[in-house]
Amino acid sequence: MRSTTVLLAIASLAATVLAHGGEDHGAASSPCLTNPANATCSTYTFDTAALNKDVDAICSVSSFLPGCSLSTSCRADPSLPQSQCHPLTVLATLCTAPEDKNLTATSCATSYNAYCGATSVIPQCKNQTAFPGLPSGKIVTGTVYSICLDMPGMKGCSICPAPDATGYSKCDEVKAWSDLCLDMPDMSQCPPFNAMCKNTAFGPFCDASYKAPVNNGTAPGGNGTASPSPSTPTPTGGSGNGSGAMALTSSLSMTAVLTVVVAGISSMVL
Ligand SMILES: *[C@@H]1O[C@H](CO)[C@@H](O)[C@H](O)[C@H]1NC(C)=O
Ligand SMILES: *[C@@H]1O[C@H](CO)[C@@H](O)[C@H](O)[C@H]1NC(C)=O
Ligand SMILES: *[C@@H]1O[C@H](CO)[C@@H](O)[C@H](O)[C@H]1NC(C)=O
Ligand SMILES: *[C@@H]1O[C@H](CO)[C@@H](O)[C@H](O)[C@H]1NC(C)=O
Ligand SMILES: *[C@@H]1O[C@H](CO)[C@@H](O)[C@H](O)[C@H]1NC(C)=O
Ligand SMILES: *[C@@H]1O[C@H](CO)[C@@H](O)[C@H](O)[C@H]1NC(C)=O
Repeated sequence: MRSTTVLLAIASLAATVLAHGGEDHGAASSPCLTNPANATCSTYTFDTAALNKDVDAICSVSSFLPGCSLSTSCRADPSLPQSQCHPLTVLATLCTAPEDKNLTATSCATSYNAYCGATSVIPQCKNQTAFPGLPSGKIVTGTVYSICLDMPGMKGCSICPAPDATGYSKCDEVKAWSDLCLDMPDMSQCPPFNAMCKNTAFGPFCDASYKAPVNNGTAPGGNGTASPSPSTPTPTGGSGNGSGAMALTSSLSMTAVLTVVVAGISSMVL
């Protein structure tokens, strides 16, 4: 008797722990989140609030990642298409960026990779794939760094500080990348940006005159529903007073770290 009770207690504790494995999927918890290969999951649809929590788990720590810029843009403008803004697309963008796995792997192991692995039969996993052409944060950082080494006076070079020892600029990297390549699309580093924009025409990244709607009190984005904003740039260059965009002096030590990334970009471009 007693051992049965103990076993039950352990089982229910285990169930509680499993149900909360990393993320709280609350009432929306489903066997499909742990066993997405089960045939019954072919009709499963995700709870978007739970997916947003998965996104927030990454973006509250690494708000500078491109997928976090996507999340912020999407939450600020409900009129943007779900094909680009569904939270599963945002999560896929974060979790499939190969060079960012050091930052995302732990969260993604209990979220995207668990529900949308190779054997998953959940239809949205096939539909809502990563935002096409949006590179990893490492690549975007390297691209911005490369452009700003060439042309430190460009306005977009004041958006981001130099990359730190982890190889990332802690800023809205996509904003810097977008500003620079919208400004001078013919630069040798910009074909990937131009291709992404040709393909997606995503206003927040691709249209210099795009403005998010003013929060009417109806739009999400004003009242704590938005993810931590990556759009608080910490310019170290000061715009245009010659103090050196991206603080190039301090970033000389980053050259080694980013050589690989920049070389990768060059080979993509050539
Ligand atoms: C699939 O899920 C259903 C409902 O949760 C369950 O009854 C069934 O045993 C599962 N099948 C497999 C093979 O896991
Ligand atoms: C991940 O982190 C390790 C140790 O910090 C580092 O050696 C490795 O280069 C990193 N990988 C990437 C892709 O940045
Ligand atoms: C997935 O694709 C199908 C067919 O294109 C479409 O009917 C459905 O609405 C899509 N689902 C989502 C979540 O986008
Ligand atoms: C936003 O927050 C303010 C202050 O907390 C509140 O008065 C307002 O009703 C909220 N708007 C929405 C749409 O929740
Ligand atoms: C804001 O209000 C205006 C006028 O009522 C409306 O046309 C617009 O769609 C609203 N924007 C949002 C984001 O709700
Ligand atoms: C550059 O601009 C910043 C902010 O506008 C200012 O604090 C700084 O003193 C300026 N530096 C120089 C060398 O003018």
